[in-house]
Amino acid sequence: MANGKIAGMGFYVPERVVTNEKLTEYMDTSDEWIQERTGIKERRYSKRHEESTTSLGAKAARIAIERAGITPEEVDFIIFATLSPDYYFPGCGVLLQRELGITKTEIGALDIRNQCSGFVYGLSVADQYIRSGMYKNILLVGAENHSMGLDFTTRGRNVSVIFGDGAGAVVIQPNEEEGKGILTSKLHSDGTYAEELALINPGAHGGYFREDGEAYFGYEAAEFGKTFVTQKMLDEAMLFPYMNGQLVFKTAVVKFIEVIHEALASTGYEAQDIDLLVPHQANLRISQFIQKKLRLADERIWNNIQRYGNTTAASIPIALTEAWENGKAQEGDLVCLAAFGSGFTWGSVLIRM
Ligand code: COA
Repeated sequence: MANGKIAGMGFYVPERVVTNEKLTEYMDTSDEWIQERTGIKERRYSKRHEESTTSLGAKAARIAIERAGITPEEVDFIIFATLSPDYYFPGCGVLLQRELGITKTEIGALDIRNQCSGFVYGLSVADQYIRSGMYKNILLVGAENHSMGLDFTTRGRNVSVIFGDGAGAVVIQPNEEEGKGILTSKLHSDGTYAEELALINPGAHGGYFREDGEAYFGYEAAEFGKTFVTQKMLDEAMLFPYMNGQLVFKTAVVKFIEVIHEALASTGYEAQDIDLLVPHQANLRISQFIQKKLRLADERIWNNIQRYGNTTAASIPIALTEAWENGKAQEGDLVCLAAFGSGFTWGSVLIRM
């Protein structure tokens, strides 16, 4: 059975550049703090009332589709990874189908909720569908519109300075050439830490207490209803993401290395065989740690978090496309993608381009 290959890729980031300096107008932070801890200099924010997660995704998707040499109507399956969907439901997959003008119904649309590792999970799912022979042109999109839902006061600064908006997309098709395409994908999860990087409200959890006893559900007793979004949630800033930054950092550096080695070992390669590593852009310090551990030269890793911040599900396809446009990840190159994030979930994919 043919494995999957990347037949086309594209990315789009909103035009509006937001520097660290600009954020100091809203919160107590500094360019120095942000750059020193994360490497981020600026990020992009979408245009309010004009751009949505789906519309960002559609812009990236159109480029990937064109580069794959197909038309939108030829796409037979859509996978959409995001943590900042347009609607609570339905997911962005069907919205993207509509936005791309795909009117046929002989197509499936699947939404992936795996946050920072959403693209890697999506690539693995796409590869399995190709291997099974079920689909021939799979459109995989990772897109985020974070700026709509962050706390831009000092209270939320440890999270809000990190994230940015953007989208990346790939088209996956059957690979005809021996030894090429998606060689392997490795996926992991550990739900023990689900609430350590999370947006808990609004949700149908029925009440969640942190270990320190602080209530995170924010509703008064009511037999039915009136609990999904409450005034208390608005008043007490419970509708913003929470992140235990130090735990995420410490766990990420270990899991990134493990899962990259796992993919290499299962295919008989070593770290030195990697032509290009594209790590999820979580934090420049995390990427630098991985690079050092794997002893990769600077030209064998692609980082762009300095310019875009952490774009979660979009970060790998944006970075991969940007690398490709800059002459990296070319025909025959061994490319490793790796991600870690909320869940915790993490994974890697090894591709011979
Ligand atoms: N500007 C200025 N000060 C800030 C700040 C900001 N944006 N955010 C937090 N601080 C302050 C804190 O309030 C704290 O002050 P205190 O010492 O007076 O209490 C101090 O800086 C240190 O905070 P801490 O959270 O311990 O910082 P850190 O060194 O862990 O760095 C992160 C914070 C978020 C940069 C870091 O933990 C990180 O990058 N973690 C991984 C996050 C990640 O990758 N997330 C995405 C997952 S895919």
